[in-house]
Amino acid sequence: MLKLRNALQHRLTEAMAQVAPPPDGPVAFPLAPATRPEFGDFQANGAMGLAKVLGRPPRQIAQAVVDHLQVDDLCHPPQVAGPGFINFTVRPEVLAAEVQARLDQPRLGVPMAQPRQRVVVDFSSPNIAKEMHVGHLRSTIIGDCIARLLSFRGHRVLRLNHLGDWGTQFGMLIAHLKHVAPRSLSGEEHVDLGDLVAFYRQAKARFDEDEGFREQSRGEVVKLQAGEPESLRAWGLLCRQSRRAFQAVYDRLDVQLVERGESFYNRLLPTVVADLEQAGLLVVDDGARCVFLEGVRGKDGQPLPLIVQKRDGGYNYATTDLAAIRQRLAGPDGGGEGADRVAYVTDAGQANHFAAVFQVAQRAGWAPTGCQLQHVPFGLVQGTDGKKLKTRSGATVRLRDLLDEAVARARRDLVERMAQEQRQAEEGFVEQVAETVGIAAVKYADLSQNRTTNYQFSFDRMLSLQGDTAPYLLYAYVRIQGIARQGGLLGGGEEQPADLWLQAPQELSLARKLLNFDEVILEVEQDLLPNRLCAYLFGLSQTFNRFYDQLPVLKAPPRSRPTRLALCRLSGQTMGLGLGLLGIRTLDRM
Ligand code: ARG
Repeated sequence: MLKLRNALQHRLTEAMAQVAPPPDGPVAFPLAPATRPEFGDFQANGAMGLAKVLGRPPRQIAQAVVDHLQVDDLCHPPQVAGPGFINFTVRPEVLAAEVQARLDQPRLGVPMAQPRQRVVVDFSSPNIAKEMHVGHLRSTIIGDCIARLLSFRGHRVLRLNHLGDWGTQFGMLIAHLKHVAPRSLSGEEHVDLGDLVAFYRQAKARFDEDEGFREQSRGEVVKLQAGEPESLRAWGLLCRQSRRAFQAVYDRLDVQLVERGESFYNRLLPTVVADLEQAGLLVVDDGARCVFLEGVRGKDGQPLPLIVQKRDGGYNYATTDLAAIRQRLAGPDGGGEGADRVAYVTDAGQANHFAAVFQVAQRAGWAPTGCQLQHVPFGLVQGTDGKKLKTRSGATVRLRDLLDEAVARARRDLVERMAQEQRQAEEGFVEQVAETVGIAAVKYADLSQNRTTNYQFSFDRMLSLQGDTAPYLLYAYVRIQGIARQGGLLGGGEEQPADLWLQAPQELSLARKLLNFDEVILEVEQDLLPNRLCAYLFGLSQTFNRFYDQLPVLKAPPRSRPTRLALCRLSGQTMGLGLGLLGIRTLDRM
């Protein structure tokens, strides 16, 4: 509806200029999507705000605007309603032409962004030798969706994995590695550390118990920071092993990331401190170098510092993020990414951290005017009991196990359904459908919640064929593919009509829904809330199902059949594109 809205908006502004020319009259008289179907397609509420300025009753202003409006080619005569709303209902033949124009178009009416921005999306970002947990899963799924959507809009997106691959924990890990597999460091022996998480736990246990080991670990940190080859080799080995486990999850989720871990910024850390010093922001407090934050006070009412260099000279998480943001915002001449927008997808618990990092970046003069720095927070993943998600034994849930279980359950549901329907299928089919549905269910359950709230993880709910779930959406898509197979004509061809004819209310509401796709994409681009796209696709599936349950399509009368087939085809294309932007693969049968 974007194009129509723009066209109407233009005419409305023209009419308004005649009724009340500036400076008294408004510069814009905004048009918005109608809040309810009975109000038509669009609504203009500007008359109310103007009543005071012009000293005329709002209804009179609205009527005067309508009298000056030339929109017969697009709408039914606009209606003045209530205290002074103007309601617009688009003509069916105009909707039909829009549907026609959109059919088979790869962008389905969504314009390319102007100007194209350079966007960094920082997401997933698990930590080496630690478990990639459900929080990282949320970040991975939400971040991937945002990156897909922004790329689709035409922005140049850099998907960065800010891997936790540096820090004092490596001292302990390397010391432990030297004990259990000394020969692996010289390259004489190839070790597979297998479960690195268990390895981390053993190292940690020793660290906590044994003072000698602690001493040794600290020595290893110093050696690593000094770049000693053997230490670097050990570090590389640990990273490689972790990376393999992470990559398996990314492959399964169909997520692409560019790895740029914390270690990447090591060489930039001293420059950050120097920069802050030069900007006059650095204060030495109790031996630590820090920046005092504006407008942020601790419990004691004292301004809070952001520590950038500890008393012992070491740097921390915040310093690395400062180096990262500086590098991302710097232009290519300064060895940077030249980002116009940087989005960080992490749990809401890191909100203060990012607010501090953004503030310091602004005050240090690293952020060019107009650039957008965003923390994209999300809530906790909880079990159905409302508590933190845990396994039955109380351990943290491993991602791999979680995905396996979703797929296993999807498989069980499928096999059961096929037995009921007396369908036979090859093993390959069951395999593929179960994997697709299981992964889709996990992703959709996450994306369909407003990300800022906590969400309750329930296999039963997310895998249900009923309700706002991935299986429900995929099933609507499969239905459309079924029509395509039976009709054989959905892919265009002879039955492609010269003019579509929208008449039945179900046809009209499906057409309207389909045409709203572009507006939804633009909204998500702004507020980075994938749940809006989910809600749209769920609504579209429902509208489509109603249409298909209530009207014959393949057996429709000749006058309606081409239009209905075209609506089915555009529904399939819109569902396919929309699910693709969510990072969800579709199926032709299930
Ligand atoms: N590794 C961090 C964690 O596990 C997330 C990093 C997010 N990105 C960033 N630039 N700080 O919580």
